[in-house]
Amino acid sequence: MKRIYFDNNATTPVEEEVMAAMLPFFTDNFGNPSSLHWAGREVKQVVDDARAEVAALIGARSDEIVFTGGGSEGDNLAIIGSCEALRAGGRHIITTAVEHPAVLDTCRWCEKNGFRVTFLPVDRRGMINLRQLERAIDHDTILISVMWANNETGTIFPIAEIGEIASRYGVRFHCDAVQAAGKLALDVNAAGVDLLTISGHKIGAPKGIGALYVRRGLELCPHIHGGHQEYGLRAGTHNVPGIVGLGVACRLARTRLAEDADTLAALRDRLQQGITQRVEHVQVNGHPEQRLPGTLNISVAFVEGEGLLLHLDMHGIAASSGSACSSGSEGASHVLRAMGVKDDLLQSSIRFSLGRHNTAAEVDEVVAVFADVVARLRAMSPMLMDFNGIECDTYVECAIEEDHH
Ligand SMILES: Cc1ncc(COP(=O)(O)O)c(C=O)c1O
Repeated sequence: MKRIYFDNNATTPVEEEVMAAMLPFFTDNFGNPSSLHWAGREVKQVVDDARAEVAALIGARSDEIVFTGGGSEGDNLAIIGSCEALRAGGRHIITTAVEHPAVLDTCRWCEKNGFRVTFLPVDRRGMINLRQLERAIDHDTILISVMWANNETGTIFPIAEIGEIASRYGVRFHCDAVQAAGKLALDVNAAGVDLLTISGHKIGAPKGIGALYVRRGLELCPHIHGGHQEYGLRAGTHNVPGIVGLGVACRLARTRLAEDADTLAALRDRLQQGITQRVEHVQVNGHPEQRLPGTLNISVAFVEGEGLLLHLDMHGIAASSGSACSSGSEGASHVLRAMGVKDDLLQSSIRFSLGRHNTAAEVDEVVAVFADVVARLRAMSPMLMDFNGIECDTYVECAIEEDHH
């Protein structure tokens, strides 16, 4: 059976060039970059080179890049590290209701430890209201943490505008750019971001490596203590192969960015068009324009999302429900819930996320299988039997029209 992978927001394969660059650092060049002898010296340089590549992807300086064990660690270091460093100046954090759990749960942890958190709501397209953000800032606010792009719907937040508001009020701004890196052009200075998280495995590097951009001069408390590595912000012997891989993946992402984004957007549009033309009663979730090029999140009325995923999987197609846990209404996507997606569609949602290895032929295959599977599931659906001809359009009504700005 042919296998089709449409879950690139979950993780991506390690690029061949990345893998080839990493291999010598497991064996021949195995040194510890903190060692002073030849074995250490020869890898210290490659760690510095990789740091420069990561910095170049986001418009930063090399000495502003801290290597981490991935996106979750970067988010934790940025948020908890800021709270600890700034607690004398205030105890209020602002974030959004649709962040990844790496930010949401970290903010909730801060809440249990003496901080106050505002979780900004989003509109039906998954967008925040900048006036609401500005009104939420008070004398006690020390940190704003807003993601660049949402992992479930692909909705892109107006990061430069948020950066401008944060700097006007003198509030530190952290941005989780795990899903945006390699897909959108990022410039930390133009965007006014103070801390920015990226993760290797979303951009063709291995799992377990990432980086946190820390604006020069910013005070941050480490939470992994021990050695002096990473400017004292993240102790532990460097993951040299992972770092080398991240550096190469960032270089490839930077050089291919525009081309990859165009290709992905075209494939995503083909998928969206194919599905909406062939399958009735589907709703596209997310912003119609401000959306990551490869992400398509849809709700399919009268079909249970998990069943749909399983059937696609049986045909070799990997997609996702978008949220880690989707069984039971309690576990329904917090993102779609915050967007006001109707209860009966919450459990009927599926996310396709395309990557640079996907093709138009794969898209066409997925559309055909999807239409077939949905038709079969609907034929058996008790939900559809209950559905006695009410306006079908209710279910296609897309969250796009309303503008709360
Ligand atoms: C937006 C976002 N932030 C953070 C993470 C966590 O990254 P990692 O898997 O590298 O810990 C993810 C992973 O899905 C993500 O999508």
